[in-house]
Amino acid sequence: MLVSMPAENPFQDPLRFERRVPECTIVIFGANGDLTKRKLMPALYRLAYDRRLPSGFAVIGISRTPLSDDRFRQNMLEAVKQFSENTRFDEDVWNTFAAGLFYLAGDIGGPDLYQRLAAKLEEIESARKTGGNVLFYLSIQPGQYATTAAGIGAAGLNRGNGWRRIIVEKPFGHDGASARELSDRLHEVFPESEVYRIDHYLGKETVQNILAFRFGNGIFEPLWNRRYVNHVQITAAESIGVEGRGEFYQSVGALADMIQNHLLQVMATIAMEPSASFHADAVRDERAKLLRSIKPMTTDEIRLNAVPGQYGPARIGGQDVKGFRQEDRVSPAAQTDTYAAITFFIENWRWAGIPFYVRTGKRLPKRITEIAIQFNRAPLTIFNDGGGEECVPNLLIVRIQPDEGISLKFLSKRPGSGMKLRPVSMDFSYGSSFGERSPSAYETLLLDAMTGDATLYTRQDMVEASWAVVEPIQKVWREVKFDFPNYPAGTWGPPAADAMLARRGHAWRIP
Ligand code: BG6
Repeated sequence: MLVSMPAENPFQDPLRFERRVPECTIVIFGANGDLTKRKLMPALYRLAYDRRLPSGFAVIGISRTPLSDDRFRQNMLEAVKQFSENTRFDEDVWNTFAAGLFYLAGDIGGPDLYQRLAAKLEEIESARKTGGNVLFYLSIQPGQYATTAAGIGAAGLNRGNGWRRIIVEKPFGHDGASARELSDRLHEVFPESEVYRIDHYLGKETVQNILAFRFGNGIFEPLWNRRYVNHVQITAAESIGVEGRGEFYQSVGALADMIQNHLLQVMATIAMEPSASFHADAVRDERAKLLRSIKPMTTDEIRLNAVPGQYGPARIGGQDVKGFRQEDRVSPAAQTDTYAAITFFIENWRWAGIPFYVRTGKRLPKRITEIAIQFNRAPLTIFNDGGGEECVPNLLIVRIQPDEGISLKFLSKRPGSGMKLRPVSMDFSYGSSFGERSPSAYETLLLDAMTGDATLYTRQDMVEASWAVVEPIQKVWREVKFDFPNYPAGTWGPPAADAMLARRGHAWRIP
């Protein structure tokens, strides 16, 4: 394993103000793939549009299909036009940006590609003054990560006269052992400090705002514990199905696709202790510590506290919607969870005994990701006989997407002579408060990797800690034959998920 000493990084500004981005080349493996077209190129184009990219900048796209540089540029132009959100297309910006796009066709399993890549990098470095800094981006099948890293290492491309970093997309393994194995393979070529495991949820503006909200304000933190919080609900609902990814999704499922990574990271952000500073490792240490405090469940606890679901066919808005088992390239007997709801407990002094309900699913009624923190009720109700909406507890809702913002629900007196109460809401909305566009998660994260800031990237110990929580659940679920489908497309998941909360006297919020 390579070890690197933490060095002074003149480009890293822990508070991430206007940073100077060093010259560099980004090498994208999987340049014709969906992620490159939908996310990476639109994000890079937007950075160019905002004048955030350095003058010495280039991208080398790598894929198997032979393409000329011009054809690749044309394809990327179409992708940028199709997938850029809230960004005007500017021909001059595009032309300058596109002049730095290059393409290399080859087989990532063969050594020849890496030799040619070495030559191309050298050529580009001198032509475009990219300073020898290289960021490798693996946007390929997870099974190819280790081979690609080894190819980079064998050709000596992991070292040079500038920095060398590697970004790896999820999934990071399919369980704890494979995640460790993957890290070991990557560490043969790159030290952990240069491995950037991307979890795009951490790059979302609203997830970052959780830290600002909690640690930038004095009034919330004293309430942020088991004495005042009754329970927490984290929901990531999607209305779409598996969108042509049926074959891949069938072997993954909602628990591994969303909870193991994105939602546990969100939960860690909501529940972690304040870090001593905003330096990458200070923040990541606290997140990791929280993940390690999540109580792993026994088999009996899993049966009670983890509910899988799978959507069945339905008719929505006059249209027939397929069930998961009818999706393309999905087995008609698939046991995949397209929905998962889990009750987690955190074993530390702040949160002991407080349920964190986490749910996610495909084909739910709408797309919404939110965190709802329910506070304890007032200790005494003096305004009525103890029933009705006069008794609803205070609720703090952090909306991650869409319509990003924060709402605090509390009771207010209704106008009129009687002392009648009604829940009302105090709302903060990103759109109306700032009136400016929030950067996409990929813009933030690419910029961070270029400047060497790993705060919003997951570290090996965090990945392993989340697998330690999720793996026992997966193991139990694999041994059971579920009676799927158990929720019709377009509904809020299986009844068993409601029963799981009802046992503790709680109910899912309808967002
Ligand atoms: C991805 C999952 O990581 O996140 C997808 O693989 C999911 O299945 C997506 O749809 C959700 O991301 P977002 O940003 O749209 O909430």
